[in-house]
This record gives sequence, C-alpha cells and structure tokens, in this order.
Amino acid sequence: MSGGARHLLGVEDLSADDIERLLTLTDSFVEVSRRRMPKVPALQGRTVTWLFYEDSTRTRLSFEQAAKRLSADTLSFSVSTSSVSKGESLRDTVETIEAMGVDAIVVRHRSAGVPHQIAQWVSGSVVNAGDGWHEHPTQALLDCYTIREHLGGLAGRHIAIVGDINHSRVARSDVWAFTRLGAEVTLVAPPTLLPSSTEGWPVRVSHDLDAVLPHVDAVYLLRMQRERMTEALVPSLREYTTGFGLTRRRVDLLGEKAIVMHPGPMNRGVEIAADVADLPRSVVVDQVRNGVAVRMAVLFDLLGSGRELGRDLEGEGTR
Ligand code: NCD
Repeated sequence: MSGGARHLLGVEDLSADDIERLLTLTDSFVEVSRRRMPKVPALQGRTVTWLFYEDSTRTRLSFEQAAKRLSADTLSFSVSTSSVSKGESLRDTVETIEAMGVDAIVVRHRSAGVPHQIAQWVSGSVVNAGDGWHEHPTQALLDCYTIREHLGGLAGRHIAIVGDINHSRVARSDVWAFTRLGAEVTLVAPPTLLPSSTEGWPVRVSHDLDAVLPHVDAVYLLRMQRERMTEALVPSLREYTTGFGLTRRRVDLLGEKAIVMHPGPMNRGVEIAADVADLPRSVVVDQVRNGVAVRMAVLFDLLGSGRELGRDLEGEGTR
C-alpha cells in the first residue's frame, strides 16, 4: 500500500519503505492518543464498518477505537445477529453494506484470501484483520512499532517466534514484517506445529527453546490455536509447556534487555507462565495500546487522501 493504495491485505505486499512510512505515521497518532482529548477530525464524513466472521476482542475494539478517534462514522455489524445467520452469501452481504455508503470494510474471516476477494467486489477500501492462517497485517505493524519503541529498531535484532506457527497468521505476517525491516527471525516449535515446508521463508528453525533464548532480543509467544487444529498435534498441553512454554526458569536464560511479546489472547500457564506475562520485560499491554495508533495510521493512510495531516491533527485536545 504505497501512497495512494486502496487496501491493506497483507504484509507480503509491503516494502520496507511502506512499513516505515506507516510506523512514522503511527508516531503522530501516538501523540494524539496521549492528549487529554484524544480525538481529531481527520476522517470526518468517512464511514468504516467491520465484517468479523471470527471472534475477536482486541482487533475489533481497537479498530473501532481508532476510527472513533479519527472522527469517522462507524457502522456496527455483527455476523452472528445479521442475515448471515439466515444464509446470506458473503457477496450479497458485502454488496448490501457497500450500498449504504461505506468507505472502508475491516474484515476477519476463517478462510485465507477472503479480504482479497472482497476487495474485488467493492469500490471502497478493505483492511485485512486476519484471514485464516494467512495474514494479519495490522498485528505485524503494531508488533514492529512496539519492538522499535523498546529496542530502538529492528535492523540487526534477533527475534524468536515460538509455538503454533503452522496455524498462525500472526507468525506469517510478523516473519515478513520483521525480516523486511532487517531483523533475523528464528521459529521455535515442535515439528508438528511447523508448516510442512518453510522453504522460501527467510527464517531459521529450531526445536530447542533453551538453546535459542540466550541469543534473542525479543521472544514472541503464540497461542496454541486449538480451534484450527483437526488432530492432537502435541501429546498434552503440559508436555507442550515443558518443551516450549516460557516458564519462569526460562526467562532467566534471556539477556537482561530482551522483551517478551504475545498477540493475545494469552493462555496463561500454557505458552506463557502466569507470572511471566506480568514481568516488566513483558510488553503485551504496549502491543495493545500501540494497536490503536497503528490502526489510526492505517485508516488515515487509506481514507485520508487529500487531507492534510498537520491540520487534521489539530483536535480540541491540542489547546
Ligand atoms: C490473534 C488472531 O486472532 O489472529 N489474535 C489477535 O488478533 N491479537 C492470535 C490468536 O488468535 O491467537
């Protein structure tokens, strides 16, 4: 989505410059978010809606918060209480929404490629908020922003992504984003939780978390995505934790400045020990906070064309 793009569908399509530009834009919205009145008129008169075919807490709420802070109008839509439950097709649903005059649709769907499909049907912008195992671009952007905030940048950093890589759209988007910005990525998981081939992925792979931890600047834990598994891929959750959970003992293997990340929702006691999630080096809450500013940047980038950032950021709170 280099200047003037209409959609944000995946990180794989973004260049390092595209990502950097969005992170720089995010700085302005972090500043807005810190104001006493964290609201600006930047997207006044624009309408944003959501189409979430999968559950969500953070992503859905933070897009809503972002749209509201930009003064966009929001149309609430719930798949479970809409005509989708009466069998309306995706295409009919999308065309109905579009006919009401929306400028952007934020989509989450269990199948890879659905946001790309919708982008071909509508004249407005489409933002991918997670499609199956494929991509979750705004999560990757907020992760990059959080790493930059804590470690000063991604170039030359070493990041371990640990856990259920195969079912994770977050892992795929993060691998693209982190490596485009010059970081080195090691995937750590039992073979059953890795994709059958990682050929073409710019990563190293390890099955030994204890050996990797002393060498990383950030450890990124993933949830065991049981809803996407069709068979038992680990003998038991307890055994998974023994081999791959970030336990209190394992935290001591990390360098003094290394940070701990997780996209949420966390399963405390499985991939991350309950007390580890609350250590000062855990930046999980910062990830959520930055998610709002990153999504403001993405919506502004897609919908704010012709609007001047400087003037539009003068909200009441500046005074
Ligand atoms: C993730 C998702 O849904 O892709 N959560 C999120 O958006 N922060 C990861 C997950 O479900 O484990």
